[in-house]
Amino acid sequence: MEKTEENHSSVEDNSRHDSKSHWTLFTLLITMIHKSRWKILGVLTVFGVMVWYTISREERYMQLFDFHIMQDERMTCPLGEVEKKAAQLIANYTRDHPLFLQLKDYFWVRTPSPYELPYGTKGAEEILLRLLAVTSYSLPESVQSLKCRKCAVVGNGHRLRNSSMGDVINKYDVVIRLNNAPVHGYEHDVGSKTTMRLFYPESAHFNPKTENNPNTLLVLVAFKPMDFLWMETILHDKKRIRKGFWKQPPLIWDANPEQVRILNPYFMEVTAAKLLNIPMKQLRKFKQKPTTGLVAITLALHFCDMVDIAGFGYPDSANKKQSIHYYEQITVKSMATSGHNVSHEASAIKKMLVMGLIKNLTYF
Ligand SMILES: *[C@@H]1O[C@H](CO)[C@@H](O)[C@H](O)[C@H]1NC(C)=O
Ligand SMILES: *[C@@H]1O[C@H](CO)[C@@H](O)[C@H](O)[C@H]1NC(C)=O
Ligand SMILES: *[C@@H]1O[C@H](CO)[C@@H](O)[C@H](O)[C@H]1NC(C)=O
Ligand SMILES: *[C@@H]1O[C@H](CO)[C@@H](O)[C@H](O)[C@H]1NC(C)=O
Repeated sequence: MEKTEENHSSVEDNSRHDSKSHWTLFTLLITMIHKSRWKILGVLTVFGVMVWYTISREERYMQLFDFHIMQDERMTCPLGEVEKKAAQLIANYTRDHPLFLQLKDYFWVRTPSPYELPYGTKGAEEILLRLLAVTSYSLPESVQSLKCRKCAVVGNGHRLRNSSMGDVINKYDVVIRLNNAPVHGYEHDVGSKTTMRLFYPESAHFNPKTENNPNTLLVLVAFKPMDFLWMETILHDKKRIRKGFWKQPPLIWDANPEQVRILNPYFMEVTAAKLLNIPMKQLRKFKQKPTTGLVAITLALHFCDMVDIAGFGYPDSANKKQSIHYYEQITVKSMATSGHNVSHEASAIKKMLVMGLIKNLTYF
């Protein structure tokens, strides 16, 4: 946008310059009238051609600009479109909720939460208070200041393998990755930019230094109070806790606490209640929880102006031996015990694709 304005003013300068030279030409013409009558016709013709040329060139310029502005708005900045469409899908849709938890909300004024983790913070306030004292909650200035946020949520699906999507993914302003998805060695297919990585302790088996950029935000998606405790101990380098996890989380983690954020459980609640239609009054009956991937899409819907997804979806049931991830051999069978309802989530994502709320970069 700014660039266009710059160009625009330089065109105005040009035309001002042009009219000045027209004026000199005009005075030259007057003096010539006294000298030779025959030459007048010739000079007039040259003058006319020059005027015509300048005007038509400017018109062509203006058309070019209009085209670029239109392209800009349609292709790179569909401002407000995600908001409008999300409001159709998500009842009481609002962008007022902070993305990450903040210390002040648990310090003087405790925001009472109606739900326990992962849908709220009920009962976990004390440990949160300690954890939020060492972590931060801001978005990087480079993302905060964007007029239009184009986001890509990159899933870990096998479809990314040999997809050559790396360059396309790197062009987005915000790239959200999930769990232990590697980047190192897969740049050509999945890109190398990582604005945020959503993870939980059991999925934190990645090297924060090699698989992320120096300014990548590490966003903890907490499923249980133990997750806060793990985060606190690993950041404080305290005595490690080993019990209470369904899979051993890493015990050493080379991450800067200033890069760590705690996802606001509000987005987990919206994912469950509004995208998966889980009855929140009967949570105990419904053991299934949303995946980090779907939560990442929900998060993007609340702060991006464009949400494109890549690497979502699982191999069809006929293809039982096919790996589900682009980087490791795990078959769809292992998802059966994961506590997620994969087919239910797939239909929720399809619905968003069909209504044009999100777009897919790889075949879903
Ligand atoms: C929307 O918000 C109103 C007022 O807070 C509430 O009564 C209603 O239940 C909400 N609807 C949904 C679907 O969440
Ligand atoms: C990906 O490409 C490599 C070579 O570049 C090839 O060996 C491999 O079989 C391909 N994998 C798939 C899943 O197509
Ligand atoms: C998963 O969700 C679908 C609805 O999309 C439901 O019919 C099915 O029973 C659920 N699966 C399990 C294991 O609960
Ligand atoms: C996903 O994208 C591919 C092309 O990239 C397209 O052919 C396909 O129809 C899309 N799927 C859905 C469900 O939108």
